[in-house]
Amino acid sequence: MADYDFDVLVIGAGPGGYVAAIRAAQLGLKVACVESRATLGGTCLNVGCIPSKAMLHASEYFDAAANGAMAKMGIDVTPRLNLAAMHAQRVDAVSGLTKGIEFLFKKNKVTWLKGHASFVDAHTVAVEGQNHSAKEVVIATGSSVTQLPGVEIDNAKGVVVDSTGALELAAVPKTMVVIGGGVIGLEMGSVWRRLGAKVTVVEYLDQLLPGMDGDIRKEAAKIFAKQGMELKLSTKVTGCTVKGKKATLTLEPAAGGEAEELTADCVLVAIGRKPNTEGLNLDAIGLAINARGQIEVDHQFRTSVPGVRAIGDVVPGPMLAHKAEDEGIAVAEWIAGQVGIVNHDLIPGVVYTWPEIAGVGLTEEAARAKGEIKVGKFPMAANSRAKTNHEPDGFVKIIADAATDKVLGVWCIASVAGTMIQQATQAMEFGALSEDIAYTCHAHPTHSEAIKEAAMAVRGKPIHM
Ligand code: FAD
Ligand code: NAI
Repeated sequence: MADYDFDVLVIGAGPGGYVAAIRAAQLGLKVACVESRATLGGTCLNVGCIPSKAMLHASEYFDAAANGAMAKMGIDVTPRLNLAAMHAQRVDAVSGLTKGIEFLFKKNKVTWLKGHASFVDAHTVAVEGQNHSAKEVVIATGSSVTQLPGVEIDNAKGVVVDSTGALELAAVPKTMVVIGGGVIGLEMGSVWRRLGAKVTVVEYLDQLLPGMDGDIRKEAAKIFAKQGMELKLSTKVTGCTVKGKKATLTLEPAAGGEAEELTADCVLVAIGRKPNTEGLNLDAIGLAINARGQIEVDHQFRTSVPGVRAIGDVVPGPMLAHKAEDEGIAVAEWIAGQVGIVNHDLIPGVVYTWPEIAGVGLTEEAARAKGEIKVGKFPMAANSRAKTNHEPDGFVKIIADAATDKVLGVWCIASVAGTMIQQATQAMEFGALSEDIAYTCHAHPTHSEAIKEAAMAVRGKPIHM
């Protein structure tokens, strides 16, 4: 190596950064990763994917016992919530996994530089007053919560919180208002609804889950309303006052109109996330951010500054852990002189509610705007396994090109939609036609048979409908 301390220095140890660091080390490079948090794993492992799924999984069991789902299967129980123990298993899950990354860093000889990184020049980064140089620097600093002006978040107080505060509430609020009917709002809102909170979701748009297929968004709204969530769509929050342990929000129709007040024990602000670029001293290297605050990159994840690349939530694309991980692998492969590929057209998205909501590829609306399509749908109520498991809600929808039959998008609402979507993603990655899926043997009885039947529906002939 020329005059640098490292071949690669990665800033941020989230799913983008830690994966890039490990892959680069596996490819024989000398690697450092800077992380300012006390533990590795980034948003995902510390305050995102993992702890939210720990609470979702545990609260799902509680709900199944409390809402009669277990009684339907002959199990009579009256659950008693031990919230402290539920939180403890969440903390345990996080700690096990973050320590696992530390172990992997040691195993792969990745140097963890503890502290906050800022650029001195394109090949030099200062951490805790010390300079470290590298031939290539990868920015993987992730994202943080978007604030709503006039609504001040105070996670310690637990009245107006963001997703991190919502993971740690010390007691179940009697009433909770979620601002933002997106992924975090619906996942964390589901956790506290299941545990006993009366949850109201305030969403600015006229439908939940922007970016997802239109039918899926409508079906999701129906299901969440049936579960007892109150949905205030086309509504904006114009103010918030906190008195003691209560918050009062002022709401107005999004298009303007009469204001109303809503008081709750807890308000969760979940209106999106913004890329982390502050404090990196990007000016020192002349690196600009775009109008959305993101760092633009090319297909090799190169920024406009030679020697500096970027991946994950800080660059354009969906803010998802698996997208960041795949970019982490690809950027390391490019740096090592290989070809790293991420198919950004096929990044699956999953909302881990009950039932789960998942999709990959184009929505029906986007596909229709591009050309002639065929659509096949199959309801979970007609799937033998879902029916037997008392999980009738939802459907699978497959969108295919009318002329070529190539699958353009797959959308599912089903108890295990997050698992089902993988087969669709893989089929699409291989360029599948709906015919290929329809004539692939699917094990019986599985929820995945609904994907086969939706593919048969594209061609007009499912068996069980
Ligand atoms: P991050 O995970 O944000 O990691 C960036 C790291 O960089 C952080 O640890 C930060 O401390 C560090 N850092 C930043 N600046 C500096 C600096 N200057 N110096 C040193 N260190 C720095 N995605 C999914 O795919 N599935 C899910 O189920 C899911 N659930 C989520 C639930 C919640 C509540 C939240 C908030 C997010 C969830 N996400 C989920 C999104 C997912 O967490 C992110 O897409 C993912 O973590 C992005 O990875 P990243 O590596 O780009 O950044
Ligand atoms: P989001 O973008 O999913 O949803 C935000 C919602 O808030 C949107 O519906 C938007 O219309 C609404 N909104 C925006 N401003 C508003 C306002 N002033 N008043 C009312 N509503 C308003 O963002 P969210 O839920 O905060 O999640 C952030 C990111 O984290 C997402 O991009 C997602 O990719 C990621 N994430 C992924 C998860 C998963 O994969 N299961 C789980 C949780 C987060």
